[in-house]
Amino acid sequence: MLFAAGNRDPRHYDTPEAYRVDRDPADHLAFGYGIHTCAGQGLARIEAQALLTAFVKRVQSFKVGEPKRQPSNMTRGLASLPVIEVVTK
Ligand code: HEM
Repeated sequence: MLFAAGNRDPRHYDTPEAYRVDRDPADHLAFGYGIHTCAGQGLARIEAQALLTAFVKRVQSFKVGEPKRQPSNMTRGLASLPVIEVVTK
């Protein structure tokens, strides 16, 4: 099962390669599915929410450099993504 491929299935998602904040994320497969779904997803969601809440309070805009992919046969993620410019509020 390739969760990353499922999350980018064009039969299910319009413009699957685009990051769109207006997308309804309720049925994504980033945390897996079924009996072996991610046991840490509650913590991961709290961490992401804390990070993004703090980020939008302080940062006006930012630019990123070249992403480095993390090879995986299951998920799709980044090993690194350098932030090359930050404008604070
Ligand atoms: C954004 C962060 C995370 C992502 C994208 C993620 C993703 C995943 C995915 C896709 C699986 C399913 C693997 C499979 O089906 O074989 C999984 C399983 C699991 N994850 Fe995560 N995970 C994240 C964070 C965490 C954290 C923070 C913890 C622990 C504190 C955690 C603990 C686990 C465990 C224990 C399993 C195995 C569950 C089982 O096999 O029953 N994960 N995760």
